[in-house]
Amino acid sequence: MKKPSSIAPAEGRLAVLVPGLGAVATTLIAGVEAVRRGLAKPIGSLTQMATVRLGKRTEKRTPAIKELVPLAELGDLCFGAWDPFPDDAYESAVHARVLERDLLERLKEPLSAVRPMPAVFSPEYVRRLDGPNVKKAPTKRDLGELLREDIRRFMKANDCARGVMVWCASTEVYLEPSAVHAELGAFERAMAANDPAIAPSMIYAWAALQEGIAFANGAPNLTVDIPAIQQLAKKKGVPIAGKDFKTGQTLMKTVLAPMLKARMLGLEGWFSTNILGNRDGEVLDDPGSFKTKEVSKLSVLEHILQPQLYPDLYGHFDHKVQINYYRPRGDNKEGWDAIDIVGWLGYPMQIKVDFLCRDSILAAPVALDVALFMDLAARAGLKGIQEWLSFYFKSPMVAEGLYPEHDLFIQLTKLKNTLRHVAGEELITHLGLDYYG
Ligand SMILES: NC(=O)c1ccc[n+]([C@@H]2O[C@H](COP(=O)([O-])OP(=O)(O)OC[C@H]3O[C@@H](n4cnc5c(N)ncnc54)[C@H](O)[C@@H]3O)[C@@H](O)[C@H]2O)c1
Repeated sequence: MKKPSSIAPAEGRLAVLVPGLGAVATTLIAGVEAVRRGLAKPIGSLTQMATVRLGKRTEKRTPAIKELVPLAELGDLCFGAWDPFPDDAYESAVHARVLERDLLERLKEPLSAVRPMPAVFSPEYVRRLDGPNVKKAPTKRDLGELLREDIRRFMKANDCARGVMVWCASTEVYLEPSAVHAELGAFERAMAANDPAIAPSMIYAWAALQEGIAFANGAPNLTVDIPAIQQLAKKKGVPIAGKDFKTGQTLMKTVLAPMLKARMLGLEGWFSTNILGNRDGEVLDDPGSFKTKEVSKLSVLEHILQPQLYPDLYGHFDHKVQINYYRPRGDNKEGWDAIDIVGWLGYPMQIKVDFLCRDSILAAPVALDVALFMDLAARAGLKGIQEWLSFYFKSPMVAEGLYPEHDLFIQLTKLKNTLRHVAGEELITHLGLDYYG
């Protein structure tokens, strides 16, 4: 890999453009405003709290990530959003019931100032929702041009030097890649012909990339996984990343499954179920959207456990994932895992996980890090798929022909080594033999 020559400084304001002003986006925006005012700590965010070890362990060099590489300051972030519901970020955060009312009242002024622009939205792709704040144009190509105008207007009005787009909107119905996705020309013709294979999320990604703005996909939608959009990212020299923020049950899975494989313990079955009662849960109650999420969640174990290499251990395990909409819990999801494992001489054992988590509290710092690292990638000249950000995603994007790396700690090593690389520091191999002369 070629070493980036230098990283452009993080000067000026950074537009953080979010399609979808729901629970995740408002928890992100309120969190950034709270941290800026010293009201809370950015817990869960590597860009704000983590360090990187440099050189030998004896050198004791462990700068914060934000000291090692130039990242946008929280004070320089400027949030813009689109949503089919016209609620501003304050009203939407109150509705989402993630953060306490007391905190939201203290942040009412900056939150009320974030008003969603009319969305590119159609209930064909998110069947459980419909809202009035929606753009109208004869074709999907025209809708894309309207989004490009929004981006330019927003950047100018807010005096932003750079921008990133992070998809925080709903999970769309399941779509398979097809001929119109295979090549940029065909994709743009399909936009002009209002082809149903062009989902709203693809139109946002197309508009962002056309404007030279990096795009990250926080949902399991197909969006940037298609060759047409990847060609556009390459052509424009812009970073893309995805997909589906890794926050709760899959985060646990990508810690526990590597442990089983590391110790050569077998797996008979892994049953995962969830209850949640937020709007995301309502959308995922539709089988079309659930299918998109299910595919994203299911691939993890196969890739980590490599049954083709270890048929005795992982040749025939069952893997089930369920998500049940259960209103009383709101954003406070409960995720259960019943894991049937096999030890020495084939003796069965069980692991039970009951994760009482908060969906958007886990997702907000992920969205923040992804926004700041995508901006860093753009300034460091890293183009196209950003595999080093796999750490943040359930279905990490990789170059054609590669399998994705799901193990959380391999992903973390990859992320930190990439930071060392762009900062011109030596990579760390963990060999350590030179300590023993
Ligand atoms: N919270 C988590 O832990 C987590 C983890 C991984 C992925 N995600 C994904 O992140 C996304 C957001 O989650 P959430 O809990 O904030 O959901 P949410 O329902 O609270 O918010 C999504 C918002 O997107 C809006 N929207 C839908 N289609 C749109 C479009 N075409 N353009 C603009 N806005 C649109 C909806 O009106 C809604 O306000 C979902 O796709 C979810 O699956 C969340």
